[in-house]
Amino acid sequence: MSVDIAVDYGPLKELIGVWSGDKGMDIAPEPDGTEENPYYETITIEEGGDLENAQSQRLSVLYYRRLVTRKSNNKVFHDETGYWLWDAKEKTIIHSLSIPRAVTLLAGAHFTNFKDKHGNLEIEVFSSEDDKDWNIVQSPFMKNNARTTSFHQHIVVGNGKMKYKETTMLNIYGRVFEHTDENELKLQ
Ligand code: HEM
Repeated sequence: MSVDIAVDYGPLKELIGVWSGDKGMDIAPEPDGTEENPYYETITIEEGGDLENAQSQRLSVLYYRRLVTRKSNNKVFHDETGYWLWDAKEKTIIHSLSIPRAVTLLAGAHFTNFKDKHGNLEIEVFSSEDDKDWNIVQSPFMKNNARTTSFHQHIVVGNGKMKYKETTMLNIYGRVFEHTDENELKLQ
């Protein structure tokens, strides 16, 4: 893998940098209901160069670390890392994501148009247990007790701002739970 300033990151170029935001809201499961957690976070997204797979696929790579802190006690309560990958030939974005609960996933999407009606970059990726391409891997414990069945992420980036909403569908405490997170961040 080579790190090179000439690498074409395609639409992902706009993600590079350190992003911070304090308007986060997390809706998380509790045995007897729902927990609402206001949060702030920092996402650090860095260039990872590019690489070749099977001498035919070329991927441009960004890697990131995301630390999310609960406002009520200033403790990190979500720690995530992964890659954003761009396949220019196939016009495909892939988000690989790992959290220390022993859940990892690949969310992807084929794109034809990356701009929303205001000219901002718009990215939408999806992963599901049942999808033929973009899947979730989790430990036996999580499969049995707090199973992630799908993940959907929608991000809009423009003028140094990032806005996202993500929905993680869970089977937990004997019911289906819509675990959501949203925030607005600024490029530092
Ligand atoms: C800003 C992002 C996120 C925050 C702040 C967050 C926060 C939380 C919180 C507070 C819980 C409840 C924990 C407990 O009561 O013990 C939870 C549960 C869970 N989250 Fe997240 N989460 C985020 C994103 C994600 C993502 C992206 C995934 C997976 C793709 C995920 C998977 C899970 C799972 C599987 C559980 C069930 C485990 C449990 O409640 O014991 N979360 N999350």
